[in-house]
Amino acid sequence: MANLSQQELEKLYEIARRAAENSYSPYSEFRVGAALQLANGEIVTGTNVENVSYGLTICAERAAVARAVSQFGPKIRIAATAVTNLNGKASPPCGACRQVLAEFMAPDSPVIFPAAEGTRTMALSELLPLGTEMKLK
Ligand code: THU
Repeated sequence: MANLSQQELEKLYEIARRAAENSYSPYSEFRVGAALQLANGEIVTGTNVENVSYGLTICAERAAVARAVSQFGPKIRIAATAVTNLNGKASPPCGACRQVLAEFMAPDSPVIFPAAEGTRTMALSELLPLGTEMKLK
């Protein structure tokens, strides 16, 4: 897995936890935070933003990706992702977020998330096999 120490990943995880405090989740009350370690050294966070329509809800990870591109441009690369929640539940990134992360993150880069017990770190390619195989050109 790409080169971040366990200590750096845990720091990123704590930053994600703090981002979850801003969660707008009146419907599920599931408060999620994400933190992206960018290759340029910056860290960008996101939280889930729910909507009365339910379907228009934005997950924390995708909110963070949109923010990172908006702030630093289309060439960003994500070296590591942390996601967590304030509800004490397991929450690996959803399928949609895995695909969106794959757009900017190398397959062997780590994703840390809350598992049934403690945290778990997996390479993006383990979470989303063939995530970078789709080619339009
Ligand atoms: N959610 C995230 O923000 N990220 C995930 O990885 C899992 C789900 C949000 C969406 C919704 O606001 C709430 O958690 C319950 O699904």
